[in-house]
Amino acid sequence: MAASARVVVVGSLNVDSTSYVASFPAPGETIRSHGFRVALGGKGSNQAVAAHVVGAAVELVARVGGDAAGDFAVATLDRLGVPTGAIARETDAPTGVAQITVADSGENTIIVTGGANLALTPAVVDAERDRIVAALVLTQGELPVATIDRLASLAAEAGVRFVLNLAPPAPVSAETLAVADPLVVNEHEARAVGIGTDAPDATLEDWRTTAASAVGRVARSVVVTLGAAGAVAASVDGTWAIAAPSVSAVDTTGAGDAFTGTLAAFLAEGRSLEESLRIAVAAGALAVQARGTVDSYAPRAAVLEAAARGGASPAGGAAPA
Ligand code: RIB
Repeated sequence: MAASARVVVVGSLNVDSTSYVASFPAPGETIRSHGFRVALGGKGSNQAVAAHVVGAAVELVARVGGDAAGDFAVATLDRLGVPTGAIARETDAPTGVAQITVADSGENTIIVTGGANLALTPAVVDAERDRIVAALVLTQGELPVATIDRLASLAAEAGVRFVLNLAPPAPVSAETLAVADPLVVNEHEARAVGIGTDAPDATLEDWRTTAASAVGRVARSVVVTLGAAGAVAASVDGTWAIAAPSVSAVDTTGAGDAFTGTLAAFLAEGRSLEESLRIAVAAGALAVQARGTVDSYAPRAAVLEAAARGGASPAGGAAPA
């Protein structure tokens, strides 16, 4: 990867408790799981790992609690080779946690409790200014809104690329959306910011048109991920639709993060939005084929190989959401 491929992720870090079930319980119902795991998670941390494994030099600005979960999270990032020098401990707060349920269909539900992530305030952004303005900046909707807004204005002021994955949807300012390059959203998040088609059976081509209509109106450039269908992108330079390869989805958790971290890494490397989109779709499709989040992320060579053949391995059915 080019030496200039530097990504700073200012983002959430959670510990994920995941139960694997045949199908989701109904309200009031108690069911048995057929598997359980505790692992590193959080959209910020996942995206940092995704960018790292495809070769970017990554910095992760994050917060963990003074608890055992915080020890576990930092030790896991150390093991994976992601620098942890910008992760501080909040001794009075618990590490962020996500309770995840994954059904045999590969779909998931996620409940996030912010914990120490909520200590990632605008003041932290100001304190980390020098680190932040030195690279492409990537963040997500799990941080406090004021922090995302501050980050966007700092990136704009410094002239560095700002990539915003608005997951989950958060009421950030119009100015923040306007400087996102790209704004990365799934179809639900897209609708939350006024990018959407009401057609229940909207195709990739429909979404390509919809994304194009949001360029300049909502954000500088726009990427919409469409699960098993693939993803679209639009900027002032053009519009692109990339169909996802047909694969067997085991667990879609964190596949959107694999997509976004990979997209950011290749944009930071100087690749075009079109090429980065194609590679990111391959990374997401690889990630859904194994359980977990960061443990399912494929390294650079495998991602590039999958992107080159327009597929991500054996036959089956899904990609990133
Ligand atoms: O995108 C998946 C992630 O969402 C999980 O790792 C969980 O921690 C939540 O942040």
